[in-house]
Amino acid sequence: MIIAIDGPAASGKGTLGKRLAKHYGYRHLDTGVIYRAVAKALIDAGADLTDEMLAVSAAYALDPEKFGDPALKTQAVGDAASVVSAIPKVREALMSFQRQFAAGPPGAVLDGRDIGTVICPDADVKIFVVADPKVRARRRTLEARARGEDADEAAVLADIIRRDERDQNRPTAPLKAAPDAHLLDNSHLDIEGGVRAAIDIVEAVRAGRQRV
Ligand code: DC
Repeated sequence: MIIAIDGPAASGKGTLGKRLAKHYGYRHLDTGVIYRAVAKALIDAGADLTDEMLAVSAAYALDPEKFGDPALKTQAVGDAASVVSAIPKVREALMSFQRQFAAGPPGAVLDGRDIGTVICPDADVKIFVVADPKVRARRRTLEARARGEDADEAAVLADIIRRDERDQNRPTAPLKAAPDAHLLDNSHLDIEGGVRAAIDIVEAVRAGRQRV
């Protein structure tokens, strides 16, 4: 089974993805990390974020061993990832890695922006996670502070709104819900509530399929 979770920045889709994968014993890929890794490679090289050739070669040279690097989590790298991810050739270079990950046994949960629409359009279950931008900004600020980073909530909110804009309006694979995605608004849910709601969606889809 493939579960696709999409949604905007700081919607909680990553945590949901991880928890759902654990619940079902599936593998999990936070696809934001791969765009962040490409962005960080450009930043480290002192290159321009719109340098297509360098970005594409960084995408092909991706090292999954480095996906756990805490430096990928920062707001600056996330913002740079949003810029790099708008380059169609970068998206193309990262496509087969994501599809291969999704296809492996015993099943997989992938979270990102275009999993249900482009990477895995035939995913068994698609969930589109949304939350009020102010709630997302609050959560992201608290996370950043917990990591010891300086975070100003108003600046985080401005970043989230700018990122949503860019992710939703890029011509290639924009952030949007697949027509067959189930909407999960977690503005007023804590992590456990969100996980329960997501499991309910997966179980409802499974039950529906068994009845056919
Ligand atoms: O989910 P995140 O904040 O880690 O993602 C960082 C950026 O990467 C996001 O602003 C847009 C891009 N991204 C994407 O374009 N497609 C994905 N499947 C995942 C992330």
